[in-house]
Amino acid sequence: MNRLEIVREYVDKVLLMVPDPEYRRCGYIHLYGVSQACTLIAIKRKEDAELAAIAGMLHDIYSYTAMDTSDHAHKGSVMAREILESLSVFEPQEMDLICRAIYNHSSKGKEHDSFDEILIDGDVMQHCFYNPLFEVAEKEKARYEKLKAEFGL
Ligand SMILES: [Fe+2]
Repeated sequence: MNRLEIVREYVDKVLLMVPDPEYRRCGYIHLYGVSQACTLIAIKRKEDAELAAIAGMLHDIYSYTAMDTSDHAHKGSVMAREILESLSVFEPQEMDLICRAIYNHSSKGKEHDSFDEILIDGDVMQHCFYNPLFEVAEKEKARYEKLKAEFGL
């Protein structure tokens, strides 16, 4: 099984434990949606699409495990490292890249390193493309406009 599918199998088990069905549904939609958005953005920017898709799958893992979103980016990066180490299929520098992106992903107002930017933009893209009739959140408007321009939309 390839590494992305190994991570997805792990994440699926975490999400199955979420007691509230609506919250669980949001988890599947959001984590898989961000993962696919990260793939798209990584390919466009000639970055590592596999690692970007994995960062997308794991980026909110703390929120869905603890049912708590406070400081979830920082706590989630610690949790993601534990998960990735336990899977024994990643190199240390790959884990560093993924976990740093997760650590920084809530800081959407700043511009980060190119790999970290993929996850931040993937998060925004999933929120904005989930339903085109929903209003774009104020804090995501600038990134959404930049993404549309980048993809010629
Ligand atoms: Fe997210």
